[in-house]
Amino acid sequence: MPKIYVTRKFADSGIKALKAKGYRVEIYPEDQIIPRKTLLQKVKGADALLSLLTDRIDDEVFKAAGPKLKIVANYAVGFDNVDLDAAKKHNVTVTNTPSDKVNEAVAEHTFALMLSLARRIPEADAFAKAKKYTGWSPTLLIGTDLYGKTLGIIGAGRIGSAVARRGVHGFGMKLVYTDMRQNVEMEREFKAQFMTMEKLLQTADFISLHVPLLPSTRHLISTAEFALMKKTAFLVNTARGPVVDEKALLRALKTKRIAGAGIDVFECEPAIDCDVTDNLELKSFPNVILTPHIASATIEAREAMSMVAAENIIAVLEGKPPLNPAK
Ligand code: DGY
Repeated sequence: MPKIYVTRKFADSGIKALKAKGYRVEIYPEDQIIPRKTLLQKVKGADALLSLLTDRIDDEVFKAAGPKLKIVANYAVGFDNVDLDAAKKHNVTVTNTPSDKVNEAVAEHTFALMLSLARRIPEADAFAKAKKYTGWSPTLLIGTDLYGKTLGIIGAGRIGSAVARRGVHGFGMKLVYTDMRQNVEMEREFKAQFMTMEKLLQTADFISLHVPLLPSTRHLISTAEFALMKKTAFLVNTARGPVVDEKALLRALKTKRIAGAGIDVFECEPAIDCDVTDNLELKSFPNVILTPHIASATIEAREAMSMVAAENIIAVLEGKPPLNPAK
């Protein structure tokens, strides 16, 4: 029976599906990122590897696994942790876990960040809990509306579209977007206006990032981009940390180039504080909200990801094409 190695315990549904097939499923038992050495030992002889975005899957892993390995099912939509060239060299299929549930979860979190920034929820919460409230005041913790503002989506794929739908239909925002190619459906459904990145940065009040991490998107938002943004603009990143140059973000915040930022992903993950990007000060800004890479952390999304990963493994081990090849 095929051996499946799973690098961390997670939502059950997919594991059950794999076991129901009679596969030998072994799961790294600790609730932590699997140590590299353990991964290299455990993957040996596996037919399938179910990895997490915290595992670096490269030539060394493929070599350690040996020739039986047919698929790496990465438990994430992003797969920047997997060396696709090395996978190809070793004839291993790589899959990811896109799902409507993930799109909706990430879109909801994006709005949680946008609303929290606009209405200063963390500041208000701290204020109330510190018993600072002494009576209603017309100037207390004034925020800004989402209604009527312009939402700028960078990356008009599935998650970008779920964010767009909420912005337009839920909050009455205007929509502008940029991508490698036009998204006609987005334009029809949400009256979205396609524009260049430069124009979008100058136009949007809320800028939300939904691009994969690729060499071409690393530091997509850096000093020049912040310089184009409105001083009243908010930036939200639920994509991948290195898409934003954190040093440039810090400078933009210090010089009040932008109004604030909601950041779910970080350049030096798993660290949030990082000497390399010198982002230790990020957490000192009241107009910055940090969440620890939890945009897709809902029960519904995690279960869906688990099933999608399992379905891909089953397909490939049964000699069928993968459902979600990473490309
Ligand atoms: C993803 O799916 O890529 C998220 O970042 C983690 O769930």
